[in-house]
Amino acid sequence: MILLNRELMAFKQLVTRILPLVCGREMKPLDASLTQEEVRKVYDRLSKIYDLWGIFVESRARNRAIELAKIKNGEKILEVAVGTGLTFYKIVKRNPDGMNVGIDISEGMLSKARKRLSKLNFANYDLRVASAFSIPYPDETFDLIINTYMFDLIPFGEMDRILSEFTRVLKKGGRLVLVNMADQKTPLTKIYNLLYQLSPKMLGGCRGVKMKELVESHGLSVVSYECIQQMLLPSEIILAVK
Ligand SMILES: C[S@@+](CC[C@H](N)C(=O)[O-])C[C@H]1O[C@@H](n2cnc3c(N)ncnc32)[C@H](O)[C@@H]1O
Repeated sequence: MILLNRELMAFKQLVTRILPLVCGREMKPLDASLTQEEVRKVYDRLSKIYDLWGIFVESRARNRAIELAKIKNGEKILEVAVGTGLTFYKIVKRNPDGMNVGIDISEGMLSKARKRLSKLNFANYDLRVASAFSIPYPDETFDLIINTYMFDLIPFGEMDRILSEFTRVLKKGGRLVLVNMADQKTPLTKIYNLLYQLSPKMLGGCRGVKMKELVESHGLSVVSYECIQQMLLPSEIILAVK
């Protein structure tokens, strides 16, 4: 009888720890747990298969971001965390007479992007290794910055530094388009968050975030905020102006 009571207690403890996670009653948002060096290594490895995820889970939000960006030919455009170039390809096509720069910390992802861009007959782009924490351009250079699915890899405590860099290199009146995995409670995101806690590397280090208030705290005006679901995973799309 004593043994049964102990087992019941242990079971109760297990349920009370796991249930809040499964039911979304876990109050604290998940923080990112990979270092930038780990992120770089993970994406060097994932670069070979990334497009499968990028197309089946993220393409709707990425396409909407391009619509919202309203690219005008001749602009100066920066894509931060350009990845395999899924968005950058579309940017360069719309901006043949402008300046197009794509940066990323993963050489593996960049080499996929270079291969994709070589299919275009344009040469007006620059793809290079650089970090969002230190963008190698002077103040007020760009009309538009696009950044998709990167802040979901960045620890909360480091997001401000990157947003300061974005506002520094953006011209007055320039646009920022951000896309991230959204921190929303859907049945799949609850399972996703559990898996993230077991192995963030398995999920490319990405967890859901909410960026609107932080963007506004950097003096940018959010003119549009949308959420889109694809394969049951939510993405947030933010258009802000400096
Ligand atoms: C989930 S992938 C998204 C790639 C691309 N933006 C897309 O939507 O297909 C995240 C990318 O962010 C890059 N990344 C992570 N931290 C970065 C940083 N500090 N500066 C630049 N790129 C970074 C990774 O190397 C990786 O290519």
